[in-house]
Amino acid sequence: MQNLLIKGDNIQGLNYLLKDKKLKGKIDLIYIDPPFATNGNFTITDGRASTISNSRNGNIAYSDKLIGKDFIEFLRERLILLNDLLSKRGSIYLHIDYKIGHYVKIMMDEIFGIENFRNDITRIKCNPKNFDRLGYSNIKDLILFYTKSSKSIWNEPKEKYTEKDLEKLFSKTDKQGRRYTTVPIHAPGETENGKSNQPFKGIMPPKGRHWRTDVETLEQWDKEGLIEWSSTGNPRKIIFVDERKGKRVQDIWEYKDPQYPTYPTEKNPKLLDLIIRTSSNPESIVLDCFCGSGTTLKSAHLLNRKWIGVDQSEHAIKATIEKLETIKRDLFVSKPEYEFIEIEKNETRNKSLNLTDIPLRSISAG
Ligand SMILES: C[S@@+](CC[C@H](N)C(=O)[O-])C[C@H]1O[C@@H](n2cnc3c(N)ncnc32)[C@H](O)[C@@H]1O
Repeated sequence: MQNLLIKGDNIQGLNYLLKDKKLKGKIDLIYIDPPFATNGNFTITDGRASTISNSRNGNIAYSDKLIGKDFIEFLRERLILLNDLLSKRGSIYLHIDYKIGHYVKIMMDEIFGIENFRNDITRIKCNPKNFDRLGYSNIKDLILFYTKSSKSIWNEPKEKYTEKDLEKLFSKTDKQGRRYTTVPIHAPGETENGKSNQPFKGIMPPKGRHWRTDVETLEQWDKEGLIEWSSTGNPRKIIFVDERKGKRVQDIWEYKDPQYPTYPTEKNPKLLDLIIRTSSNPESIVLDCFCGSGTTLKSAHLLNRKWIGVDQSEHAIKATIEKLETIKRDLFVSKPEYEFIEIEKNETRNKSLNLTDIPLRSISAG
């Protein structure tokens, strides 16, 4: 499949992917960051990102005027189509705010199945604010994460230990200066006549517990100096920090929005890198049908995934094209090549353009 950028209403865009491109069940990862029902207009003043606000000044990049149940219905229609597009190993991440997010969660439970709900990720979006308001300052939004099934792609992400983690979790240092901690070598439950219930150096596991592995392995660890004996003769396994890939990623993420965005509500590319690495594989198709300035598409491209972006705003398409143009070809990354399609409102026939026909400046053919 060729990468695809579609300008048009995503309801038509998604139907086009299902019917014309026959992509039902073919998309491994969807990330969407729709409007949040703020009842505002998001504008671009002075071309590239000098001031971006939801005031009445500047060119409107997109309007966010659907609120309440109309917004939920708008999203529901699109999520049903997105569910059809998701592959069996697929995942969807939906970015939303704390005001409408809980209603969206209930609707998503219905469409994707509550059993497939994985996380409500808290995303720290900005620095603490100190102006007065009734209520606590809001510095987070949320990302609702669902998988299509229990067989979804999951490339366990790891995070680097901080200095504080190292001091807390790996507080010991050996003669060579290597940081380590120790863990018990027995676990709850007794096994009868099993290999993990034999004496190790003449010691049996404590009552009601068994060795975590067979006694030959314990002997091997001991030979390699990987068992630490306490002064009371209690053996524990040594875990060196430099042999660990890092710690598990938790469900609070700090990825603040760019300080000088090229597009209103542009997201941090590192947030997208994490999602794409974790829930897709190289050659997977990644879809963002509210693509804005194309943050998802650029991350997907840099990570060697196929991508599809949809947005109805002229400004968004321009920003996306410009963002894709900043990708530099190197040994591992090609220059983006993609098909550009424009779907007119209420037009039943899609206008499929060759790159050379496109009136918009700066489409890169790679
Ligand atoms: C919050 S912005 C996305 C920003 C994006 N994540 C980024 O990093 O630049 C939402 C986008 O959804 C687009 N949008 C809203 N309704 C749409 C619709 N019905 N069809 C296609 N795009 C739509 C808007 O034009 C806007 O660009």
